[in-house]
Amino acid sequence: MNSTGSKWLLSLLLLAVVAAADAQLYESFYAAKCPQGPAKVAEVVKSWIAKDRTLAPALLRLHFHDCFVRGCDASVLLNGATSEKEAPPNKGSLRGFNVIDDIKAKVEALCPGVISCSDILALAGRDAIVAMGGTNWSVPLGRRDGVLSLASEANADLPSPFSTFASLVSNFGKKGLSTSDLVVLSGSHTVGLAHCAVMQPRLYNFSSTVKTDPALDPTFATALKKLCKQGDVATLIKMDQSKAVDTWDPNYYSNVLRGRSLFTSDDQLKRNPAGVKVVQQMNKAPSPFNKAFGDAMVKMGKIGVLTGTNGQIRKKCFVKN
Ligand code: HEM
Repeated sequence: MNSTGSKWLLSLLLLAVVAAADAQLYESFYAAKCPQGPAKVAEVVKSWIAKDRTLAPALLRLHFHDCFVRGCDASVLLNGATSEKEAPPNKGSLRGFNVIDDIKAKVEALCPGVISCSDILALAGRDAIVAMGGTNWSVPLGRRDGVLSLASEANADLPSPFSTFASLVSNFGKKGLSTSDLVVLSGSHTVGLAHCAVMQPRLYNFSSTVKTDPALDPTFATALKKLCKQGDVATLIKMDQSKAVDTWDPNYYSNVLRGRSLFTSDDQLKRNPAGVKVVQQMNKAPSPFNKAFGDAMVKMGKIGVLTGTNGQIRKKCFVKN
């Protein structure tokens, strides 16, 4: 076979492997071995969120950062001097690891060695959305856990808040996600917190000619400057200044259209015809956001999963067996 032929064969084989992995994830995966497991995850998520409402967005973000690096294999949870946790996009910013450890301990007590850390992340992400008032969806299950976690991969694969539209599309495309998935999943920035560090360039050091990003609504920029003083990298501010940190709604899209979203990567979604089309669709009342979001999360949750006899079921989420 010539080299073009063998490349085709390889692509077909890869497609078959991806399709096979997909087929092995299904909602009732634990029905026989640990029927109470998924409900236990939801119960523990709820109890933590009742104490600290900011944990709901944090749990959602953990699942995203897991899936984008090495697939949804719980590699984000592994400790190590050069693990994903240590990479700048994660360090000091990802939260909720203690919640995952607590969930794991409680599901291990129910059914030892059965429920993977990667499935716990997928379930906790969904349960967090439900706790914030979002719509429920079925989470396909059966992921297994990886054994490797590299900061270098987190640096390469996680999108930067300073990204252009083209680089966001390319970043999501590499993970099998479309422009529409990018816009819909970015709607997560309707909840949660961000460090003032991310806002410094947009507020005070945008370019050699303008200090403040002209894409920001001027009133909004003035308000943000009160919350994030020049040089402040530590203060946490709400993603959506108009409501509580954990109110799940499509308001993000209205913010994007009005120059009231925090990051350049958010603003960029309206700077392209394909992007703005989806932003406008999501911003319509009644918004198709909740349904679209559940569908996109299911798609994201299937990135690079380990199934069957691949990987392992970790006993503790922060260390491989
Ligand atoms: C499109 C590219 C994206 C970029 C560039 C981006 C970037 C960021 C940044 C910089 C923060 C603030 C971190 C901090 O200052 O501590 C953040 C927070 C957050 N992101 Fe994204 N993100 C993106 C997409 C997503 C997606 C796809 C999801 C979920 C599916 C998501 C969910 C969240 C949540 C919930 C928070 C708040 C976390 C918390 O309160 O602890 N983001 N994101």
